[in-house]
Amino acid sequence: MSDVNSKLTLIRYPHPSLRYRSKPIRRVDSELLLWIREMFQLMYDHNGVGLAANQVDLPYRLFVINLTSDPSEKAEELVFINPEIIRRSGSEEGEEGCLSLPDIRVQVRRSKELEILAYSPNGEEIRWRINGLLARAFQHELDHLNGVLFVDHLAPSESLNVRATLEEWEREYSMARSRGQQPSTEDVIARLKELEALRT
Ligand code: CO
Repeated sequence: MSDVNSKLTLIRYPHPSLRYRSKPIRRVDSELLLWIREMFQLMYDHNGVGLAANQVDLPYRLFVINLTSDPSEKAEELVFINPEIIRRSGSEEGEEGCLSLPDIRVQVRRSKELEILAYSPNGEEIRWRINGLLARAFQHELDHLNGVLFVDHLAPSESLNVRATLEEWEREYSMARSRGQQPSTEDVIARLKELEALRT
């Protein structure tokens, strides 16, 4: 792979990588650690609180969160590798946005409390009970790793405006693709499979 020195970029809807369901990681190496730092940086650059690997075109089961969105708050940085929800309870609505679908903010119903299992980059088990904004962010980012977007949770009645925006982005994307400015879905998937084979 010649990807070693390439910078990550944030991808936007409807890039096919956002629909890719990633497999668990079996190996954390120095390149992956570098990419995790880049993911935090991109997240801060765009004032986000969470970012999943497929949002930077990587097929790995990991996401980063910093609820403060403040790069100086290093102690608030969380990395979840191979994350899972063990138990969930309650439900509540809350507003969400996503760096891959800028300017869309909608109410999404999520579980209120979670018991989660994940691993840190140095292999320590993370088994926490979480709630509030962290639980919401965790569910939003875990969805990404399964190829699910927050707009998929909308009821048809509340999704009319959102739908129009998504269709506009889909048109723009297919035009960019016909100009050769975006790769074909086959090329995107082939690249993801190649990267996936290195660590899963
Ligand atoms: Co998102």
